[in-house]
Amino acid sequence: MGGGGGMGMGGFRGIALGSGTRMGGSGNLTTSEADFGKAFDPRVLGRLWRYAAPFKLRIWAGIVLLLINTLASVVNPLIPGLAINEITKHNQTGLFWMCFFFLVNNTILWLSQFQQVYQMTWVGQHALYRVASDMFHHVASLSLTFFDENETGRVMARMQNDVTVLQQVLSNGMISIFGSFLSLIGIMVFLFVLQWELALLVSISIPVMTIALWVWQRTARRAFLRARDSISEVNATIQENVSGARVIQSLTRERQNSHNFERVNDKNMQANVHAGKVTAFIQPLVAVVSAIALAVAVFVGGLMVRSGALELGFLVSYALYINRFFDPIRDMTQQYSNMQRATVAAERIFEILDWPQDVADAPDAQELTSGRGEIEFRDVHFGYKEGVEVLHGLDIHVKPGEHVAFVGPTGAGKTTVISLLARFYDVTGGAVLVDGHDVRDITMQSLRSQMGIVLQDPFIFSGTIRGNIAFGKPDATDAEVETAARAVGVHDLIMRMEKGYDTRVLPNGANLSLGQRQLTPRSSSRTVCLLCGTPTASS
Ligand SMILES: Nc1ncnc2c1ncn2[C@@H]1O[C@H](COP(=O)(O)OP(=O)(O)OP(=O)(O)O)[C@@H](O)[C@H]1O
Ligand SMILES: [Mg+2]
Repeated sequence: MGGGGGMGMGGFRGIALGSGTRMGGSGNLTTSEADFGKAFDPRVLGRLWRYAAPFKLRIWAGIVLLLINTLASVVNPLIPGLAINEITKHNQTGLFWMCFFFLVNNTILWLSQFQQVYQMTWVGQHALYRVASDMFHHVASLSLTFFDENETGRVMARMQNDVTVLQQVLSNGMISIFGSFLSLIGIMVFLFVLQWELALLVSISIPVMTIALWVWQRTARRAFLRARDSISEVNATIQENVSGARVIQSLTRERQNSHNFERVNDKNMQANVHAGKVTAFIQPLVAVVSAIALAVAVFVGGLMVRSGALELGFLVSYALYINRFFDPIRDMTQQYSNMQRATVAAERIFEILDWPQDVADAPDAQELTSGRGEIEFRDVHFGYKEGVEVLHGLDIHVKPGEHVAFVGPTGAGKTTVISLLARFYDVTGGAVLVDGHDVRDITMQSLRSQMGIVLQDPFIFSGTIRGNIAFGKPDATDAEVETAARAVGVHDLIMRMEKGYDTRVLPNGANLSLGQRQLTPRSSSRTVCLLCGTPTASS
């Protein structure tokens, strides 16, 4: 298509600067982390279509606009040629109309391109919005097994990078492959109609250019993947060194770590220099090939003009056509590899969307309303992985109001017991009962809202102290928040802070001690306080 002078390397830069997460390990999200696959997978396209289908009307509008746009851009180089023919014929009215038509055509070009890009971006963004919400809702509903088995980095990469990659196909990618193809056909038709012998001569450059671009794409793809891997490594190293600063300093590993960083940093530089070289290579090459085609056409065409076989104006049109001849070829090779990346991205996204909800509310689950607080473990068997049992027939009976502490060596299964009580996982044998109800027969929402859980490894959300205390009960009144804080003995401490309950917590709760962090979030109205770990808090 007509637009854009540059070589459109945007997609590739995107790869280079994209992911900052280190992949690898033995997560269970199995789809390969390679970036390129089939470009057109009907199964994937069919499923993506479901997200775009509600916007059918706009998609059709986009296609019609694309057709108009392509036609206008293909006709464009012809008009100056026709105008020159009018000059050679000394026809002033003809000249005026040609110039007028040129203006009209370019206005159509402008408006149709603007609307087409806007409409397709609109569709792409709306479809993407649905993909991202579906993914977020689904991931939020998954049991902790999913989070145990898949590294945070990998899940994040799928939810961020893959969605971004997908955006390219969902908005303009697919339709512009089609548009480029039409442009190429259109330009060829005009060239052949104007002067078929000259067109035949010029078309020799098409296979040459296609092969050159194809080979270049493959080289560039490898170069940019390497650059991306190396920047991920740099980022991972920086991230580890920043978050592990305390450990590094206490073990005086600074020098060795600097040395390691030097190595990955150097590798990253080399990879990017190479990628830069590959990028720099193609644009002048295209320019040279198109200059050769132009020179040949002007020379041979010039002879034809002299012998009267071709009108001068058409030779000018020819030159203009050759000038934009390689744009569609380049766009198609570029979009084709975008499609390949997007297909893989979509497969990875679908893998998350298809992840089974192994712990879910039963269809006839009831609300737990009693809230007496009687707990029973009946011959509970459980293992995180098949074949590795952690609990082997556990029986516990806790009466309402009773205070119970689990004491045992590390790895004994204390946290596991609490996780089963909150139904973060399902037992593999036996049953967990709360107030006489099997936890699998009641809704998770009603079960967990009856509990106050202080995790061994606390997580503080950004916001205020108040927001964190009321995290499990967003509609809690100030009095309730204060009661909860008093119950665990942190009220006075909070009041001594700068802004009391409105003090903002730093990322990861860095301005709180570990004990304070454990006490801060959660608290429901009815606190069954379960310290599921080695208590570090003073209470
Ligand atoms: N998410 C998990 N995936 C696989 N195995 C796990 C997981 N969590 C715990 N385990 C294993 O289950 C066993 C019990 O772990 P658990 O966390 O319940 O111990 P704990 O008694 O709370 O120990 P600590 O006192 O160190 O907190 C351990 O052998 C541990 O390796
Ligand atoms: Mg524990």
